[in-house]
Formats: sequence, C-alpha cells, structure tokens
Amino acid sequence: MFLKQLLRRKKIEVLLAEMAGENQLHRVLGPVSLTALGVGAIIGAGIFVTTGRAAAIDAGPAIIISYTVAAIGCAFAALCYAEFAAMAPVAGSAYTYAYATLGELFAWIIGWDLMLEYAMSCATVASAWSGYLNELLEALHLPRVAARWSSDPFSYADGAPLTFAINLPAILIMLLITAVLIKGIRESASTNAVLVLVKLAVVVFVIVLGWSYVNQANWTDIPSNERILPEQSAIPKLAKDHLIHTEKLSTAEAIERAPALQQHALAAYKLERAKAETERMLEEKDITPLEAEEALAAAKRIHEPSLATTPEEKAEAEKLLAEVREKAPHMAAEKWGMIGLLGLNHYLVPIDDATRSPFIPYGISGIMLGASIVFFAYIGFDSISTHAEEAIRPQRDVPMAILISLGLCTVLYIAVSAVITGLVPYPTIDDKAPIAKAFSDLAHREQSSSLRMATAVIAAGGLAGMTSVLLVTFLSQVRVFMAMSRDGLLPPIFGHVHPRFRTPHLATMLTGAVICVVTAFTPIRKLEEMVNIGTLMAFVVVCAAVLILRVRQPGVHRPFVCPVIYLVAPLGIFVNLALMLFLPWDTWLRLAVWLGVGLVIYLGYSRFHSRLAKETLHEIKHHGMTGSDTPLRG
Ligand code: ALA
Repeated sequence: MFLKQLLRRKKIEVLLAEMAGENQLHRVLGPVSLTALGVGAIIGAGIFVTTGRAAAIDAGPAIIISYTVAAIGCAFAALCYAEFAAMAPVAGSAYTYAYATLGELFAWIIGWDLMLEYAMSCATVASAWSGYLNELLEALHLPRVAARWSSDPFSYADGAPLTFAINLPAILIMLLITAVLIKGIRESASTNAVLVLVKLAVVVFVIVLGWSYVNQANWTDIPSNERILPEQSAIPKLAKDHLIHTEKLSTAEAIERAPALQQHALAAYKLERAKAETERMLEEKDITPLEAEEALAAAKRIHEPSLATTPEEKAEAEKLLAEVREKAPHMAAEKWGMIGLLGLNHYLVPIDDATRSPFIPYGISGIMLGASIVFFAYIGFDSISTHAEEAIRPQRDVPMAILISLGLCTVLYIAVSAVITGLVPYPTIDDKAPIAKAFSDLAHREQSSSLRMATAVIAAGGLAGMTSVLLVTFLSQVRVFMAMSRDGLLPPIFGHVHPRFRTPHLATMLTGAVICVVTAFTPIRKLEEMVNIGTLMAFVVVCAAVLILRVRQPGVHRPFVCPVIYLVAPLGIFVNLALMLFLPWDTWLRLAVWLGVGLVIYLGYSRFHSRLAKETLHEIKHHGMTGSDTPLRG
C-alpha cells in the first residue's frame, strides 16, 4: 500500500479538471507575453556575470562552444517541455509532469528540486544584481555600496573566519519584486515586457558596439600555457588563509595585508611558470635559445615590478608559494568535479592535451566545465510552462514561446561571448561584471567619454535584465508551490489565492522572505552551482517523463509532438547528465542533502496530506478499487 502510494500517478483528466477549480488564475497571457516571460527569465546574471569567470578559468575563448553545448542540452529538454506543457497546461511544470508519469514520490522530489531552480536562482541573481549596481554607481561617478554592506559574509571574508557582512541591495530588490508580484500578473507581465525590451536593446548594443573593437588575436593568439590554472585562481584566498593560519594575524589585519601578499605571490608564480614553460619548449626544440631568452626577458619586464622588495615580504611570498605548490595537485584534481571522483578524468586528460590550442586552452573538458557553469544563463525558458495555466491559448502558444525564447537567447549569447573574449584577453576577463568592465577598460584605453557612457548604459541594462529574471523566476516558484499545495503535498497556505488580486500572496510573501535571507548571507558561486545541478536534474526527469508517457500512453492527445522523441529524449538525458557530472562533487553532496531533507518532509507531512492518497482511500472504501490506472483521454 505504502509503495503504491509513492508511485501513484495523477491522471491528465484530473489535471485538466483542476484548472477549473476555485483557485484558478486569470488567463491573460498571449504569445508575445509568454515569449517575453521566457526571455525575461533567461537573460540575466548568466550572460552578464557568469560568462566572465567561465571564460577566464574554465573554457577560454571556447566559451563560445560551451554556450553552444549548453544550448543543445537545453534544446532537447525544451522540446520535451513543449510536448508536456501543451498536453497538460497547468501550473506545476516539471513537478506536474512527473506526477502524471513517474508517481507521487518523484513528483515531490522534482517539486522540491525545482526550488533550487526557481527560489535559489532568484537568490543568486539578486546577489549578482548587487554587483552590477556597484558597477553602475561607479560608471556614474557615485560612491559604491561598501563591500561589507553589499556582500555575503563568506565572500566578504573569503576564507577568513566569518566577519559580519550582508548583501543589502540584494535584499532591497527582492522586497521590491515581492511587492510587485503580490499586486498581480497583469502588472507583472507589463513590467516584465518593459524590462525585456531594455535588456534586449542593451545586449544588441553590446554586440554591435563591441564587435568593432574585437581583436581576433584574443581568440587565436594567446598561448594556451597562459591559461589560469586552479592553484593560480586560488592564490587570493590562500593569501588570506596563510596570513590568518600561518602568520596568526587577526581577520582585520589579514584583510588589510592580503592584497600586497597576493600581488607578490602572483607575480612570483607567473614568473616561475614562464621560466618552466620556456625551459620545456627549449628542451622540446619548439623555440631557439635566442627566442627563449627573449621570452624570459619579456616575462621579467611584466612581472618583476610586482615582486616583493623587502626580505620579509619575499620570505612571506615564498612561504605562500610553497603552500600553493603543495596544494596544486589536489586543486587540479578537484577541478574535475564528479568526473574526477568517478576516475573518468584519466581518460579525458590525454584528450585535453591533444585538443589544447589558443582557442581551446582548457581542452574539451574545459568546454564541458564551462557549459555546466554557463548553463545557468539558459535557465528560465521552462518557466514559461509554469505559466501555462495563465495562457489564453496554452496548447499553441506555450511550446512556441519556449522554443522561440530559447533560440533567440542562444544566438545572442553566442554573439556576446564572442565579443567579450574578442575584446579582452581571456585570462584577464573580470569575474564580477565582465561586460561592463570590458567596456569601462576600453573607455579608459581609448580615453572616450562616449564609451564611458556606454558602460553606464550596459550596467543599467544588466540591472534591468536581472530584475526581469527575478520577476519571472519568482513568479514561477509560487506557481509550482500552488500546484503542490493543490495536491496536498504542501500546506494550504501555499495555494491560497488573494480574492481581489487573484495572486498567491501568502506563498509570495513567505518565499520572498526566504530568498531575502539566502541572498543576504550565501556565496553566489556555490548557490549558482546548486541551481545548475537542480535544474539539470529537472531536465533529465522531464526528458524521461515525456518518453515514458509516449510509451505508456501513445494515444493521448498531444497538441505539440516532440519530433523524433526516441532520439531527442535520450540525448536530452545524456547531455544534461554529462553536464551534471562536470559540477563539483560537493555540489552533488549538497544536492543529496537537499533531496534528503525533502524526503523527510514528504514522509513526515506530504504523504499524509496528499489529496491523491485520500481520494484513493475513499475509492477503495467505496468501490474496492484504486482507479489509478484508468487510461488517459485518447
Ligand atoms: N538564466 C537566468 C540568468 O542568467 C537565471 O540570470
């Protein structure tokens, strides 16, 4: 009986009948609004922020290919979402699809998992929003919000014992979004449409303006040995750790002294690497002794001015470098994520070495790692399916909006990533506000006030972009909560619709409060990885669910039919699973803990309150049958 309940499926007729219930939403969204919702949820922190880090330390100029790989995984999932969304245009998206195919337990797991995609991605984007606000303030020659008041405590301390910090701008934007959403979908849709137009204009502006400054040598001529190795990117954090744990300084002193130590250690590290590389090339007769001498002299000219000068500083930098060298192999292994834990990296290292080039400095695995990170930029197209219940003609418009918004964003992303890696040598791309920073550096170099203006416009566009992501993604979260509450898996408060605004106001307030706390105190990078792994998992499940339903119930009316499903769905599962494997193993661990917590809630609460379970019990009592396997509408 217990197992039967866990695997009990919801009938599509039931889903459709529920849409006519008392808590139904207004059907106000046409094809343009739906597509705007998709683009609104997609273009945001991913392209405006994540691209920088992924290009600099994961993929190099081949980030362009990473964007393509992530788009392929999303396209497979999008086709599957489109079939399901047209077939059952109700609010719950992947959660509801899993309920109809895989059973209640899987549905709960996916609903719980979707919180990572929606609520946690809001927290991530709000945190990135705060970074772009500072860029805008700087471009306008206004004071930045102090780091302590615009960072989470972990990023602020960066490895030092925790000191108090809070991300206030992130909280403020979330409060604003919460208020807008409580007022209603009509207002939210028009606010979103304006924001989408602004951000599309800015993205096109970046592409058109940036293209004329692209230096193709940045794609093809930077030697691959200039790529950033994991230990190099860890030097800033290790410097602080070293000052606190080895030199026994207080946190405040360490934060003050760390920049100088980082600079000395980085210069010494780069010089050491240049020497080793020159020797290697000389040994392999890739260069002549004269060329080697010249290369070394050039490296010295660049790095020597940043080296430590006093004996104490030199000794300190040397001690730090010794720690860096000791930790390097461990860091290199860690970068492989789950792939490393499974031992698959041994097969991939030779492939990386064979494929390494100035365009692909980190090899094929770098492209995949980059794809698993920039995947974040595509998250959101599926949120259209959570609005299916508010669509005027869901069967036709929802699949169309999903596919159009994903296609449009893919083209824009590939173009933007090409521009950024063409404008800035990839090892020096900024990791917080790469696009705005690329243009502000350009303005500085060209001494151009119009380029300075352009930086302000881009920063403002980034803010608009992220604001619309927050708006739509948050909206999607409450829609999923609504669906789960309607099924009894969450308390009724999550499904309650305001009598006048017709919005799930209580769920919105509650979710807004949780997001505010998370965005104020959690490091963006770890959150982002969690969001990615959660969403990739949802995509894998949706691909599997669509395939299962095709096999199990081929006769159900499908207004949109995913082409070659027997190829598309397995490929969707494969690509998205592969991307999951490139994420760090500790992210997998966090996912497992998150799902474990979800399971406890299911077993402790949801199982006993499930409407389906209660109805089934009622059926058994009165008719002596379960009725769960009645065929769907054929
Ligand atoms: N795709 C959304 C963004 O990039 C989550 O902000």
